[in-house]
Amino acid sequence: MSEPRPLKALVLAGGAGSRLRPITHTSAKQLVPVANKPVLFYGLEAIAASGIREVGIVVGDTAAEIQAAVGDGSGFGLDVTYLRQDAPRGLAHAVKIARDYLGDADFVMYLGDNFIVGGIDPIVRRFRAQSPAAQIMLTRVSDPRAFGVAVLDGDGRVVNLEEKPAAPKSDLALVGVYLFGPQIHDAVADLKPSWRGELEITDAIQWLIDRGLPVESTVISGYWKDTGNVTDMLEVNRLVLETVEPRRDGTVEDSELIGRVVIEDGAVVRRSRIVGPAVIGADSVVEDSYVGPFTSIDARCTIRDSEVEYSIILAGASLSGVGRVECSLIGREAEVTPAPRVPRAHRLILGDHSKVQISS
Ligand code: DAU
Repeated sequence: MSEPRPLKALVLAGGAGSRLRPITHTSAKQLVPVANKPVLFYGLEAIAASGIREVGIVVGDTAAEIQAAVGDGSGFGLDVTYLRQDAPRGLAHAVKIARDYLGDADFVMYLGDNFIVGGIDPIVRRFRAQSPAAQIMLTRVSDPRAFGVAVLDGDGRVVNLEEKPAAPKSDLALVGVYLFGPQIHDAVADLKPSWRGELEITDAIQWLIDRGLPVESTVISGYWKDTGNVTDMLEVNRLVLETVEPRRDGTVEDSELIGRVVIEDGAVVRRSRIVGPAVIGADSVVEDSYVGPFTSIDARCTIRDSEVEYSIILAGASLSGVGRVECSLIGREAEVTPAPRVPRAHRLILGDHSKVQISS
């Protein structure tokens, strides 16, 4: 048997750090935490678990932040090379600037803001067995207009791709993980910028299809990407928290921990009740409080005299004396405190025998 062809990964963590999403207006969206871990790390772990070692990470404006978080990749068992992209000129442009790094290797292209439940091992194996020119992952979505959209023939072969169509021809959206053979470089070299001024990877794949090269697909469920939608974020946080192993590395005093609860190193929990699945981040303090299921509290947070459930609290944020907080996303270093009480009066004209309930 011949040696398998080399397989590398190209992870896209570029883009401008300026989108007005709830928590990414100042920082890289690939570092949005899910269960206290940046979404990009799940991708890197999935790549390592599939047996790949050599990873090129495309970075842009937020390069420093990404490099500080990932380093040389050794923490993931990876050998990471950073590839600087001058501006977000499209996914196919990222492939273009990685041409020398990739050489003639097959590669997995992984969009750093995508989250795939169950990793990529099965699709990598399938790619290795069939060696198509490209293999894509698809998922059914309710509004395909925000995605690349695919049309398949009866055998699951891709016959047409369109980037963010106004009138989608199917509900099959392109997931941000692609496998390519070296033919993709010819396609990319031949592309012109699209209507939105980007070199589109969907156009490059369509180029392969138009030349009769095999493009395979797999339909998956369990997919999420950072769209700035808080409901989705809370839901993916819930899914991941359901799988965490309970751990107690910090200090717990006069408190009750129930179910899957992780207390990270240096965290202190006092006179509180924590009902998992929940994570209390490193060096955070939880005092006289209740933390309910599906809550991720990141590092250096303070939760005092408060109740929080089904929420994500990012690093350095504090809640103090605020009663109950639910279904919430609290950004880095945010402070939530009670409003000062303003004197209020009810002015009433009540009929005889009235019964009135007033919540003061
Ligand atoms: O997430 C799936 C979707 O990703 C696909 O359905 C679309 O077909 C595909 O075009 C892409 O669409 P988006 O417009 O959502 O991609 P976005 O601009 O968010 O970029 C995806 C990731 O790639 C993100 O981590 C930033 C990074 N990126 C993006 C561009 C355009 C780069 O590193 N360089 C770039 O030039």
